[in-house]
Amino acid sequence: MATLININGQIMPPDQAFISVFDHGLLFGDSVYEVFTTYKGKLFAENEHLTRLKASAKAISLKIPFTDEYLLEEMQKTFDAAENSESYARMVITRGKGEIHISPLSCNSPTMILYVKEAEKYPEEYYSKGIAIALVSTKRNLKDSLNPGIKTGNYLNSVLAIIEAEKLGAYDGLMLNSDGFVSECTTSNFYLVKNGGVKTANPGCGILVGITRKMLIEVARENGIAVQECKISPEEIPAVDELFITSTTKGVMPVTMCDGKKIGDGKPGPVSIKLRSLYQKKLDKIVNNK
Ligand code: PDD
Repeated sequence: MATLININGQIMPPDQAFISVFDHGLLFGDSVYEVFTTYKGKLFAENEHLTRLKASAKAISLKIPFTDEYLLEEMQKTFDAAENSESYARMVITRGKGEIHISPLSCNSPTMILYVKEAEKYPEEYYSKGIAIALVSTKRNLKDSLNPGIKTGNYLNSVLAIIEAEKLGAYDGLMLNSDGFVSECTTSNFYLVKNGGVKTANPGCGILVGITRKMLIEVARENGIAVQECKISPEEIPAVDELFITSTTKGVMPVTMCDGKKIGDGKPGPVSIKLRSLYQKKLDKIVNNK
């Protein structure tokens, strides 16, 4: 079990991994990234993550000088060297080294940094009992300033939201958009369940359109559970039956408290439990076919 770093194709232990202090990823948060994990030891949805990485790069006019094949090969090489039972991989492409000047024109060579470690195993009670979230006052970035749909290395918006949530004793913070509608949590998409149907913010509300979200919506609809992508008012939350969040690392995680109040009967509800199991079955199918 090891944490290893791969910088532009060179694999090394963390204490030997350095990049230039002039890298614009560090100076200006000028980078894009993706988080991948394995399930039962195998990568899943890697092409979807690479597609989103390229879309994010395009949206910030960053030309990635690496092919998908190269990036996947480097990831596999690093997984093989690290020998973790379940791998987490964070792939970052920065603007690269340049002048201390906001313009990226002096940056000629993007830096690829891949962090590989044993995937975090969330405590089982997060799933059996659910987690607590809080509605925070930090608003999600405006779509026409830094579009939340672009997964950049500039995560200060989410950093501010999690600081607020943690001060409130919550595990995660739920952000509203500037119109006062629900967007998402700091590193996951958000859902509510009412009368057996699921609602989640539509992309127009300013969210990162999660890959887990896409898979979840698919399995829900395939199994007769209605999902509405729409505007959600925070006033709806106290009356919902269930809440849950999704992300690559968390899968489907039930939320049983919001703003210090129980959701439903305070236990993970049947729809969240069913969707978690359906999502896992979908992952099983994907990795069994590899
Ligand atoms: N976070 N929304 C935000 C703001 C996120 O950062 C993430 C992912 C998601 C869920 O996306 P996906 O289902 O594709 O993982 C939603 C990753 C896991 C992270 O930054 O650690």
